[in-house]
Amino acid sequence: MKLWDKGTSVDTLIENFTVGKDRELDLYLAKFDVLGSMAHAKMLKSIDLLTEGELEQLHSELIAILQVIEDGSFRIEDGVEDVHSQVELMLTRKLGDVGKKIHSGRSRNDQVLLDLKLYTRSEIQKLVEAVSVLFDKLMAKAEANKQYLMPGYTHLQVAMPSSFGLWFSAYAESLVDDLLLLQAAYKIVNQNPLGSAAGYGSSFPLDRQMTTDLLGFGSMNYNVVYAQMGRGKMEKTVAFAMSSIAATISKFAFDVCLFMSQNFGFVALPDELTTGSSIMPHKKNPDVFELVRSHCNKIQAIPYQISLMINNLPSGYFRDLQILKEVFLPAFQELLDCISIAGFAIDHMTVNKHILDDDRYKYVFSVEDVNKLVQQGVPFRDAYKMVGGQINAGTYEPSRDVNHTHEGSLGNLCLEQIADRMKDVVDGYEFRQIDAAYNQLLGKA
Ligand code: ARG
Repeated sequence: MKLWDKGTSVDTLIENFTVGKDRELDLYLAKFDVLGSMAHAKMLKSIDLLTEGELEQLHSELIAILQVIEDGSFRIEDGVEDVHSQVELMLTRKLGDVGKKIHSGRSRNDQVLLDLKLYTRSEIQKLVEAVSVLFDKLMAKAEANKQYLMPGYTHLQVAMPSSFGLWFSAYAESLVDDLLLLQAAYKIVNQNPLGSAAGYGSSFPLDRQMTTDLLGFGSMNYNVVYAQMGRGKMEKTVAFAMSSIAATISKFAFDVCLFMSQNFGFVALPDELTTGSSIMPHKKNPDVFELVRSHCNKIQAIPYQISLMINNLPSGYFRDLQILKEVFLPAFQELLDCISIAGFAIDHMTVNKHILDDDRYKYVFSVEDVNKLVQQGVPFRDAYKMVGGQINAGTYEPSRDVNHTHEGSLGNLCLEQIADRMKDVVDGYEFRQIDAAYNQLLGKA
């Protein structure tokens, strides 16, 4: 069934190639296609393109389709191109001519734009929740281990004292900035494109403010040409923000892999969270964090993949855009899985509380000892030379007491301030508006 069937048939090879993976990938969008159709139908009634009775029939049939989707039995049938065609086919099978009326004033370009935005909005909500949980776990670990020192490195050379509190909460604070960036992307997503139709609007007096409100959007993409141009741009923007979260997690994963190595031994995972070797009986490998690192690095490629696919496309719809779904839609679950398994492993991670007792790290205290001399009145450069001389002569013995007090240092982690920033960022998403709009649209409010 083709919405655009005009009586001539398409070559099977062409049909298969152009449909591509849509029958599978459009399943991600099915729920949102139905929600969009509910709002569109209400709006058509308000401009007298549907009667009250027709709207009621369409609405209850759309609710029934939503149920099929939620049960997991919704399928895009062979011979049906995409989710938009499938939903219309189901409506038409049940309601006849009334089903055929729902496409007035819109196009599949419009529908796919809308579905992608609604899907992305909902996935961003899941990401914010998951990142908040990971944040809390890192902060709890930081608090619990704030008194235990570890070596800090520059150039991977032993540098200065750090602490497990500092290490864990560094990644927590990084996630705050990641969610801030994601919020900017979210605000770009949260604008209604519906009404753009094929990309140039419609001669029907569409009430775009009405569908904006019905779907709980913050605003609309006013210019219909721009609304269509947002396809690809929206995905790229969100993918950059996802890539920022992925980069934080990937860096953490590398630290864990390094710090779990016998040559470091700073952190450990219980045996049941490690994997073995088929040949070396002693192995307890951090495969979880290696896979997290690889998935997260793969996710960081997505904005570039999207950039290349949309690069140099002029304005207006092109079928090129269909392929964006292949890289974009599954990426959310991939990132969510990484966030969740990293959080699980962090819960079980233990730290070596005495690592700095090992003499190989004694030079991390050199700056502390220079600073102590400075506090006794020795000019910094002379103090530096004195301690440097002891190191070169092999006579340096660290005093090992560390006293850092300024904001963000190991003795003053400012965990409360970091938690407050996170709360402000999360509150700024205002997801409640969406739930309220959906409840009303579905007649639950
Ligand atoms: N599957 C298409 C896509 O993802 C839906 C829009 C089809 N529009 C068209 N003009 N062929 O882009």
